[in-house]
Amino acid sequence: MDIDGNTKVTGILGHPVRHSLSPLMHNTAFESLGLNYVYLPFDIKPENLEGAITAIRYMNIAGVNVTIPYKEKVIRYLDELDTEAELIGAVNTIKNVDGKLLGFNTDGMGFVESLKYDLGFNPKGKNMLMIGAGGAARGIFASLCSNGAKSVCVTNRTSGRAKKLIEEFSDRFPSVEFSILPLDSLLSSNDNTLKYCLNSTDLLINATSVGMKGDSLTLPLNRLPRGVIIYDIVYNPLKTPLLVEAEETGLTTQNGLSMLVFQGALSFKIWTDADPPVKLMKETLVKKLSR
Ligand code: ATR
Repeated sequence: MDIDGNTKVTGILGHPVRHSLSPLMHNTAFESLGLNYVYLPFDIKPENLEGAITAIRYMNIAGVNVTIPYKEKVIRYLDELDTEAELIGAVNTIKNVDGKLLGFNTDGMGFVESLKYDLGFNPKGKNMLMIGAGGAARGIFASLCSNGAKSVCVTNRTSGRAKKLIEEFSDRFPSVEFSILPLDSLLSSNDNTLKYCLNSTDLLINATSVGMKGDSLTLPLNRLPRGVIIYDIVYNPLKTPLLVEAEETGLTTQNGLSMLVFQGALSFKIWTDADPPVKLMKETLVKKLSR
């Protein structure tokens, strides 16, 4: 990589960022297309967040990704938000256009792109069962609704959070059917909402962090229709206990690596206007995580 006076700087802003795979993914992509860009990790302490955003303008940084715990907090320092970021209430991508900072959110769209690209699955008219109601779930939820999902059933350890998510979105998406199930009732209960959700589900999404440490959600996988897709947004490990169990049950599975790649690819496009080398980005990360 040749860094010179014209090199454009991008990076990831979060706390911590040392485990992020984005520098590897983006630098490989820039290099392969011969783009004069570099992508750096910026570990920002909470008390320095405002200063870090000001530095993007002053130091003419071309753009950054934003990660935990700043996706919501950065919004107050930006000049404009695109529709998706506004809807989700969180930003994962900033572009600096002549000192004006524009906020985007590519997480949910990255999820939907990965569904289409890897599984040939279009959410339009489909029924979803989503576990989780945190930051990641929010982006996925919004994109599924924007892409014409027929119904979304949300289940979360803390039911109140699932309820809040649905309340917030139901006015914006009047044609989507929403329902809530308490997570602990999935196994024990036999009620009609549960039966309906399980019988009609086309896609089950684990949008929680469960699975990262070898832990697993106990789900009634054997009560799901055979054609259902089990999508775990966790990508490290590449095969979570949930995906192992789903495979053993004969269900189609997908891990979160592709979502990571596509959200990155969409950010890449926002900054460079170039078509991202998606295949190479994915291969690079699979290689890294398989080591
Ligand atoms: P993120 O931005 O990564 O989504 P988050 O906003 O903290 O992080 O949300 C984490 C999600 O994982 C939540 O849905 C959380 O459930 P609660 O709302 O009940 O906290 C879920 N989660 C985390 N650990 C869990 C566990 N051990 N069992 C079930 N759900 C869990």
